Amino acid sequence: MPVQPVHVLVLGGTTEARRLAESLAAHEPGVRVTTSLAGRVASPRFPPGDVRVGGFGGPDGLAAWVREHGVDAVVDATHPFAATMSRNAAEAAVQAHVPLLALRRPGWVAQDGDRWHSAGSLAEAAELLPALGERVFLTTGRMGLAAFADLHDLWFLVRSVDAPEQPCPARMEVLLDRGPFDLQGERELLRRHRVDVLVTKDSGGDATAPKLAAAREAGIPVVVVRRPPVPEGVPVACTPDEAVRWVRRL
Ligand SMILES: NC(=O)c1ccc[n+]([C@@H]2O[C@H](COP(=O)([O-])OP(=O)(O)OC[C@H]3O[C@@H](n4cnc5c(N)ncnc54)[C@H](OP(=O)(O)O)[C@@H]3O)[C@@H](O)[C@H]2O)c1
Repeated sequence: MPVQPVHVLVLGGTTEARRLAESLAAHEPGVRVTTSLAGRVASPRFPPGDVRVGGFGGPDGLAAWVREHGVDAVVDATHPFAATMSRNAAEAAVQAHVPLLALRRPGWVAQDGDRWHSAGSLAEAAELLPALGERVFLTTGRMGLAAFADLHDLWFLVRSVDAPEQPCPARMEVLLDRGPFDLQGERELLRRHRVDVLVTKDSGGDATAPKLAAAREAGIPVVVVRRPPVPEGVPVACTPDEAVRWVRRL
């Protein structure tokens, strides 16, 4: 009797999700991997293995998909700020009786010379801004910019992969770009646009960290939006390799 491969569903949208799919596809012959993408990015980078695109229709839809496609385990490798999807995954895993792992790259840690201000949400970040600067480098993504739309006295440089969703700040320049970014480029950007405050989510990872070093060098304050917590009871891996080891143990 041929042995059925273990079917792993990776909820993706991050570099770590892609790396995990690459590792499973290349080195784990007993594993079949399907990556799920939300479909928000116009031209996503597709990982190896099967790929499906678009929402599942909430936790019930995800649980149904898991059952119908014979999924044996789910890895929630979505962005640390994709809190709805992470909650849905936790609920669906219970419904469908499959193990769930959260793959979360570690958050950033402040270093000597950093002038960080912690915020619990984009709205809280917006409240802090007027006291910190006038020319804002906003790197929190294309969604949720409504939180900054009433800050008419401030100017914003918004960097995102795709065009920002309305409503947006009135005084705004958009820079469409996708990381990784390097230190020299970030220094130059801050200087050219006379940025005096940076706003970022605590996304973690190397690809977008050079903006923090550039801000530190320039003595610019940084508003760091804290992560939502991982749903209770869900084990966490910090690297794709750790997640591979979890899959092997199944
Ligand atoms: N939030 C960020 O800052 C950020 C940054 C970089 C990349 N991303 C990536 O962009 C995607 C969307 O992020 P978000 O913050 O909008 O998520 P979210 O608010 O947590 O999720 C909203 C809805 O989008 C759908 N969805 C999200 N991730 C999905 C996935 N991997 N596969 C299928 N459906 C998915 C789900 O729809 P249904 O309920 O219909 O299933 C979910 O309920 C995520 O995959 C995330 O990894 C997010």
